Amino acid sequence: MKTTKPLITLEIPELPLLKKGKVREVYDLGAELLFVATDRISAFDVVMPNGIPQKGRVLNMLSAFWFDFTADIIENHMVTVDIDEIVGRDGRLAPYREDLAGRSMLVKKAEPILAECVVRGYISGSGWKDYQACGAVCGIKLPEGLKQSDKLPEAIFAPSTKADVGHDINISQDELKAQVGEEVFEFLKEKSLAIYKKASEYAETKGIIIADTKFEFGRVGNKIILIDEAFTPDSSRFWPKDDYESGRPQKSFDKQFVRDYLDGLDWDKTPPGPELPEEIVRKTTEKYLQAYRTLTGRDLQ
Ligand SMILES: Nc1ncnc2c1ncn2[C@@H]1O[C@H](COP(=O)(O)OP(=O)(O)OP(=O)(O)O)[C@@H](O)[C@H]1O
Ligand SMILES: [Mg+2]
Repeated sequence: MKTTKPLITLEIPELPLLKKGKVREVYDLGAELLFVATDRISAFDVVMPNGIPQKGRVLNMLSAFWFDFTADIIENHMVTVDIDEIVGRDGRLAPYREDLAGRSMLVKKAEPILAECVVRGYISGSGWKDYQACGAVCGIKLPEGLKQSDKLPEAIFAPSTKADVGHDINISQDELKAQVGEEVFEFLKEKSLAIYKKASEYAETKGIIIADTKFEFGRVGNKIILIDEAFTPDSSRFWPKDDYESGRPQKSFDKQFVRDYLDGLDWDKTPPGPELPEEIVRKTTEKYLQAYRTLTGRDLQ
């Protein structure tokens, strides 16, 4: 594996930029979109000034793996991650071929359903906060006496709003039902739980717990398909299984070195984020590559 410089941003001025997220750049190709995963990394919701080499490729190719893995349950937006096909689609992409390779995905443009479809198999993060406050998450009553990071008796569908600014807010299943209608609600819930079940059971056999995860869905014609990213460490909590113990917060599989480093600083977790030392960056790249290898059984090309 050649060590590469991190790609912090990929500007393609010839193409309309639809969106620049914390990590990805989305270009509009008409009926299709081009998702480009950069090597940017965020922690505590702040994007760090330096990137993690290979992270974008890992995230892109992991999403591709999971889209294939769940395609028997739900259709998704992925068209291709093959760089020849991508560049062949639009002549304006040719000059960016090297940077795009491995980190870009051509997808069908959909009309996003404005909700984050969260599935929680373990109790953590905002779910743990809600549970401590009222014994429930998104209106779902949970058994008494759960400890932090406990596995739930069964995974729950715990949707949240898609906030343009600030944090997403957990909503009850009834609120989502009111927003999208009964039939669509049941579809989103059933599909979300089914793909979480399949992916998380598989990941556990590989030593990775997917504690929770977030999906987005969109409409293409009269169909609802899975869009955005799927089961990446950016959209999910990945925990190393061999370190798991309930009653405390868990180490993040991928970001543990970054978080530990930042926790040791006198930084108030507001932008700008501090520069990450080389050693932390190197170890974090290793973690992402390891996650990819462990989950897919392949090395990143
Ligand atoms: N197939 C698709 N068609 C149309 N829009 C899509 C499709 N897939 C994903 N999207 C949308 O593209 C956007 C991708 O943005 P991105 O996730 O990079 O940034 P963000 O969600 O605003 O912020 P964050 O960096 O916190 O995730 C999201 O708004 C998502 O809903
Ligand atoms: Mg997003």
